[in-house]
Amino acid sequence: MATREVTFTGIRFENPFLLSSAPPTESENNILRAFEAGWGGVVTKTIGLHPVVNVVGAKAKFMRTSPDDAHVSMKKRPGAALHSSWNWELISDKTLEWWVPRIRRIKAEFPNRVLIASIMAGSGSDKELRNWQTLAQASQDNGADGLELNFSCPHMDRKDMGSNIGKDEGLCSVVTEAVKEVAKVPVWTKLTPATHDIVVEAAACFRGGADAIVSSNTFPSLPIIDPDTLEFEMNVDGLVSSGGLGGPAILPMSLANMAKMTQAFPDGAFSGIGGISDFAQALSYFLLGCGTVQVCTAAMLDQAVGPNVIKRLNAGLDAFLEKHADKGWKSVEDFRGLRRDRVVLQSQIRRPDASTYQGGYEPVEGYAAPDPGTASVR
Ligand SMILES: Cc1cc2nc3c(=O)[nH]c(=O)nc-3n(C[C@H](O)[C@H](O)[C@H](O)COP(=O)(O)O)c2cc1C
Repeated sequence: MATREVTFTGIRFENPFLLSSAPPTESENNILRAFEAGWGGVVTKTIGLHPVVNVVGAKAKFMRTSPDDAHVSMKKRPGAALHSSWNWELISDKTLEWWVPRIRRIKAEFPNRVLIASIMAGSGSDKELRNWQTLAQASQDNGADGLELNFSCPHMDRKDMGSNIGKDEGLCSVVTEAVKEVAKVPVWTKLTPATHDIVVEAAACFRGGADAIVSSNTFPSLPIIDPDTLEFEMNVDGLVSSGGLGGPAILPMSLANMAKMTQAFPDGAFSGIGGISDFAQALSYFLLGCGTVQVCTAAMLDQAVGPNVIKRLNAGLDAFLEKHADKGWKSVEDFRGLRRDRVVLQSQIRRPDASTYQGGYEPVEGYAAPDPGTASVR
């Protein structure tokens, strides 16, 4: 019998689809609705110990593109398609004390669904490392099935927090190790794409004892400047700061990072995020080696917790397994990683005539032979 069930880092999921840490999982009510809708798991909005105050006004908006001129804008207009989400929202503005009884109640109501607590503290002192441990212990003691360490929030000013940890392999290892010292449940680390080579930080997390790597958080980005008003489409008093891009626009970039990591660690556990709204996109992550996937932007646009998105994901997985039943595929595990080894060096891609390929070191540079008139200027 085909099944949607997966076991990932030792945790059993009814299906491999999770809501990622973001507004869809910012409250008890949302998470209960998400489980009622059928999500296999949720990662809570990131919980911290430091007080958080968000900017004035909207914290997230959506960019759309029009088919005729490919214009990208936050302005709603008929016929435009979703391009991305843009946000500068910080972690949960609710305290750990607020979260603890809610985690307990949610797990009591849905003991078979998976709740992962996303947590974040600093990394600049022993006190900060103990903060990670406090968050980890409070979450697991109250029923969280796993922990996701947020090394990836792109808009923290503090040098020892968020994506500033995810850009530093030393900090990635040290913080993961500190949490592993007290963790009784699996520990996932969520990395930032804003780094030179994400494999370096993934290796550091595994060295620190991480059970899985999660990627991607949003990509650093700015809203677009309105050509009429000359103001950023999202700003406060005319000012803006770097925020995070999510949704369809980041799918290919997030896949590229994922492919690098799953190739480097073929036996590692990976949870894929970025631009998933349907099974087709989730499938790319599974084929590259991910065991679960997570969704944010698409769910935000579908009644805040994605009831239709999870229906489509489950139906897509069922249909895919049925279509490939003749191959004996009965679960995600049977096709996971099947395309991992298809990503190779450029020089390994076939040329029309391989013997003429010189790896970019052809005698004449560029696409055309130099114009005889300018040849001496080159
Ligand atoms: C408004 C908003 C808030 C977010 N807050 C968090 C957060 O607190 N912690 C976290 O790890 N990721 C956070 N994210 C990132 C998402 O979990 C996810 O990694 C990202 O949006 C890419 O997925 P998507 O393409 O499905 O949107 C947030 C994203 C958005 C749009």
